Amino acid sequence: MLKNVLLGLSRTPAVKHAVVAFPLTRRLVERFVAGENLDDCLRVTHALVERGLLVTIDFLGEDTTTAAQADRVTDTYVELLNRLSAEGLTGEVEVSIKLSALGALLAGGHELALDNARVICAAADRVGTTVTVDAEDHTTTDATLRTVAKLREQYPWVGTVLQSMLYRTTTDCLQQRDPGNRVRLCKGAYAEPSEVAHQAKSAVDRNYRRCATVLLEGDGRPLFATHDDAMIGHVLDEVSRLDRAVDSFELQMLLGIRSDEQVRLAGLGHSMRVYVPFGTDWYAYFMRRLAERPANVVFLLRALFER
Ligand code: FDA
Repeated sequence: MLKNVLLGLSRTPAVKHAVVAFPLTRRLVERFVAGENLDDCLRVTHALVERGLLVTIDFLGEDTTTAAQADRVTDTYVELLNRLSAEGLTGEVEVSIKLSALGALLAGGHELALDNARVICAAADRVGTTVTVDAEDHTTTDATLRTVAKLREQYPWVGTVLQSMLYRTTTDCLQQRDPGNRVRLCKGAYAEPSEVAHQAKSAVDRNYRRCATVLLEGDGRPLFATHDDAMIGHVLDEVSRLDRAVDSFELQMLLGIRSDEQVRLAGLGHSMRVYVPFGTDWYAYFMRRLAERPANVVFLLRALFER
C-alpha cells in the first residue's frame, strides 16, 4: 500500500519539487546516491574498488523530454567512460544505462535511444568495459529486449535486466541464457498491475528462485541483483549443486544498502558489484528506494518532526 503510494509519487512533479527542496531529504539521498557530479561519483567508486568491490555506474535521469537532453546524457556517459579509462578503473567498473534517459520515450524515440546506446557501447568497447541496460516498467520490456538484441549484434557483451515480479520473466530467462549472455536478475522496482506481475512478495521471491535456477542451468553469465539473504542463499546453493565456477556469476547490490555484507561477500571470493548512481536527477530513483523499505520513510519523517 505505502509502496504503491510512494511509487505513484515518484512520477508526480508537484511532490518532486517539495521532496527535492526539503533539506533533510538530502541526508538520506546521500546514502543512496554518489553525489551530483562525475568527480563525486569517481571518489565513491575508487573507495568501493579499494574495498574489493566491482561497480556499475548509472548516470541518473529518466525524465528525458528532448533529443538534446538525451544527447547530453549520452555525452556524460562517454565522458564517464573516458574518465574510467584515464583513472585505470575499467577492469572493475562498467556502466548501466536507462533507455528512457537516452530518449526512448520521445516520439520516434526507440531509434534515438538505440543510436545513443550504440555511441555509449562504442565508447565502452574502446576503453574495454561493458554496458548493462536497466529494466524499466513493464510497458517498456519488449522494446528494451529488442534494443538489447540489436546492440548485441555488434557488442555481444551488452547486459540486460529481468524482473522476477513479471509473469513473463521465466520465459525471458530461458531465452537469455546463451553462452556469454550477461543477465541481471532483480525483483523489480516499479508498481505493476496484477495483469502482468505478481503482487505478493512471496510470489515474487518464488519466481526469483525459479528464474535464478533457469539462468544458472544455462551458459550465460547471470548477475544476481538482490539484498535478500534468502535469494542469495538459493543462488549459492544452486551454484554448488550445478558445480558452477565462482567467477561465472556475480552478486550485485545497490550503493548504501547492506554495505558491510557487500564487503563480506567479496571477501569470500564472490564477484560483488555495487550499483552506483550519480547526478542531479535523483528523485525517481530515491523514491523507489523509499518504497522498497518503509523504515526509510520513517527515518525521513522522524527527521522532519525532530526539527
Ligand atoms: P527485498 O526488497 O525483499 O529486500 C530484501 C532486504 O534488503 C530487505 O529486508 C532490506 O534488508 C534490504 N533492502 C532492500 N531494499 C532496501 C532499501 N531501499 N533500503 C534499505 N534496505 C533495503 N529494479 C528494476 O526494476 N530495474 C532495474 O534495472 C534494477 N536494477 C538493479 C540493479 C541492482 C544492482 C540492484 C541491486 C537492484 C536493481 N533493481 C532494479 C532494484 C530491484 O528490483 C529491487 O527493487 C531492490 O533490489 C530490492 O529488492 P531485494 O531483492 O533487495 O529484496
